[in-house]
Amino acid sequence: MQLRSSNPLKRLPTWVSLSVGIFVGLFIARLFTSESSPSTWRSGHAPVAPHASRTRQSITLPTLEQRFRVLELLTSLSPHYTKECTRNAQSMYKEQAEERYTSLIGHESPSRSSWLDTLGLGGGLEGDFVPPSRHSLAPENHKYFFAINLYNSFDVIPDLFATLFRVAAILGYHNVYVSIYENGSSDQTKALLRIFDALCQSVGMRVTIRTSMRTRGAFNHRIEYLAEVRNAAFGPLHELRAAENEYFDTIVFMNDVLPCVDDLLELIWQSRHNNAGITCAADYMYHEELGSPVFYDNWVARDINGTALENAPFESIFHHGASQDRFQRHLPIQVQSCWNGIAILDPAPFYAPPHVRFRMARITDGECSASECSLICNDYWEAGYGRILMVPRVKLAYDSRVYDIIHPGRRNLTAIRGYVRLGGLPDNPRTDPQDRAWFGPHDRLFTDEESIPIDFVPGPEYVWCWGWDGAGDLDGPDVDPIWEHMPNKSISADAVRVRHDRRMNLL
Ligand SMILES: *[C@@H]1O[C@H](CO)[C@@H](O)[C@H](O)[C@H]1NC(C)=O
Ligand SMILES: *[C@@H]1O[C@H](CO)[C@@H](O)[C@H](O)[C@H]1NC(C)=O
Ligand SMILES: *[C@@H]1O[C@H](CO)[C@@H](O)[C@H](O)[C@H]1NC(C)=O
Ligand SMILES: *[C@@H]1O[C@H](CO)[C@@H](O)[C@H](O)[C@H]1NC(C)=O
Repeated sequence: MQLRSSNPLKRLPTWVSLSVGIFVGLFIARLFTSESSPSTWRSGHAPVAPHASRTRQSITLPTLEQRFRVLELLTSLSPHYTKECTRNAQSMYKEQAEERYTSLIGHESPSRSSWLDTLGLGGGLEGDFVPPSRHSLAPENHKYFFAINLYNSFDVIPDLFATLFRVAAILGYHNVYVSIYENGSSDQTKALLRIFDALCQSVGMRVTIRTSMRTRGAFNHRIEYLAEVRNAAFGPLHELRAAENEYFDTIVFMNDVLPCVDDLLELIWQSRHNNAGITCAADYMYHEELGSPVFYDNWVARDINGTALENAPFESIFHHGASQDRFQRHLPIQVQSCWNGIAILDPAPFYAPPHVRFRMARITDGECSASECSLICNDYWEAGYGRILMVPRVKLAYDSRVYDIIHPGRRNLTAIRGYVRLGGLPDNPRTDPQDRAWFGPHDRLFTDEESIPIDFVPGPEYVWCWGWDGAGDLDGPDVDPIWEHMPNKSISADAVRVRHDRRMNLL
């Protein structure tokens, strides 16, 4: 943890400033270490289509002072809804988070040992994924591809980008590529995107924003359209490989949600720590009758027995007992399928055969007409990347009403009337009684169990599928649900073997 000694953040008050501090630190570090590299400031660095002009315009490098001005502007961008995420976090949480996520810091650090660089990847079993342009497992080389689909998302874009800037500062701007696909919004989404596009590029973070005016009407099948929209966000992933032989190590797929910085870091951390094929959060939607948020994405989410999760309060979401038990303790859970607003994907099955992509069901082959996200989970299983994980600690909302409920402030139990202290030291959160309300506090301390790698088991033989053929006028699944038989490959132990090692360099 060489970060400790030279850490400029210690002096700063909040954990948000921590990420900002890293940002400043990195940026300055990079300013002074980039002397040896040619001083071309490549605007955008968008992949060029093979037939497009190959001459890339090189642009005058901004002066130090100019870059500082951009830096100042960016660091003062503050989120709106998600502002309170890590503000006033308890000190032990800040320490835990700092220690936990140090292994994700992706800036060039001269003191970081470089012995891993010489390690290579080793032989590997047949079917293992070894990217052709493999560099090393060192964090400063781990590349992240953010794929984001937006539609009329004016309200969430400022928060989304404020969070992205901070996360990218930690992962290293040069390691992050953001691909946004916007499908014909009728609000000012496009105008807002253009501003953020320019800001991102000015710090060297690559962004591609594409807009479609194609509407759903042009497609026969609803899922076919949704799959096409998601695949479109992956366009640059394939173009960069074709044009520049650039490979990414982790994909972060986001809907128009409101995540905090540490939510994204935790999902990435769990995904890499467990070498997971797909890692998702838990998303919540307001249930008018119950008057509280309930788990939302049960059209996609299936437990490891193949049973659907419930749109229910947290006590009764999983039918699979062991999973429900872990859910209530906020521990990562192996599932058959999930999406839930943000999913971290291992890109290997996209790059290597069978070249997975979002798709609609092969109805003529008798496949159940599930969501494109369920189908991609099934395809990951079949491709041997069935390590699928749900992280209940990370709770996501799609609007500020639910966001506020699932991110309550931490209650001071000592101050609540009638509460009797059962021991412990008042200023030590480890021994001081913690607020254990289900929703929040956001700065819930990490338990040791949250860091124990999951012992993945093979997939279920049958999975509950509720098809949506989109024929009638129903705005929801319209086919009788069935237990769908899964291919033999998904049921074998080989489906959960590690094929692509993305673990962090835990020093
Ligand atoms: C864009 O996609 C969303 C779903 O992601 C859909 O609800 C919306 O209708 C689409 N917009 C257009 C113009 O088709
Ligand atoms: C909690 O409340 C007690 C009693 O009012 C107070 O002494 C203590 O400082 C408070 N703790 C925090 C962290 O605010
Ligand atoms: C487990 O899956 C089987 C179908 O394979 C189903 O009949 C059973 O009800 C499921 N059990 C639970 C607890 O969901
Ligand atoms: C799947 O496995 C079963 C029994 O293990 C076998 O009878 C069946 O032929 C296999 N199916 C395929 C498609 O390989």
